[in-house]
Amino acid sequence: MRKTPHLDAAYALSSPDDNRTLYADWAQSYDETFTEATGYAVPHHIAHEAAARGGLGPVLDVGAGTGAVASEIAARIEPIDALDLSPEMLEVARSKGLYRDLITADLTQTLEITDETYDTIVSAGTFTHGHVGPDALDELIRVARRGALFVLSVNAEHFGARGFTAKFASLADRITDDQILSRPIYGGAAPKGHADDTTNIVVFRKA
Ligand SMILES: C[S@@+](CC[C@H](N)C(=O)[O-])C[C@H]1O[C@@H](n2cnc3c(N)ncnc32)[C@H](O)[C@@H]1O
Repeated sequence: MRKTPHLDAAYALSSPDDNRTLYADWAQSYDETFTEATGYAVPHHIAHEAAARGGLGPVLDVGAGTGAVASEIAARIEPIDALDLSPEMLEVARSKGLYRDLITADLTQTLEITDETYDTIVSAGTFTHGHVGPDALDELIRVARRGALFVLSVNAEHFGARGFTAKFASLADRITDDQILSRPIYGGAAPKGHADDTTNIVVFRKA
């Protein structure tokens, strides 16, 4: 089982600035050293659920990184906009030609996006240790249209540790049809110490 230094560092981050620094360094090798090397399966789970549940464009891919979710979803739902804190990760995503717009933004802040813009909001690997907590959900609900489909991965340990249960309870009158699925994060050679890691796939619609 391989050691993946960037993953260990990513889980230990504590601020958006830390994230910017780490992903600036990781962007060029992320696909090869993480997505491909580990059989990272979360983008596939997200794309599968979004398509199976009738997701419509426009789609916002939150924490889009180098574009793994769009690589899975683009043939089925479009257009897709990418939002990420890291310009370096978005430059790799841009090179794949899968996104309509690329938005450099911090999910812990107010987003410069008009209310009720998106019909589907997806995210893989961004609601996890050292990255983004539940408070970002308020802005994502604001920029979603009524009835919009959300399919978001939330690392299972992070879900408990960061109070996602309480956050979803507080959103009860703003969301509907909520459901949580459990899925493995890795399909192949998981990083050392992470073979049994799971993610919650949180699915709901804006009321
Ligand atoms: C593990 S990567 C996942 C990328 C991609 N979705 C995938 O599945 O390969 C996490 C991404 O979240 C982004 N991120 C971390 N903190 C963020 C924040 N506060 N706002 C926006 N994006 C953030 C990082 O820049 C990084 O691209």
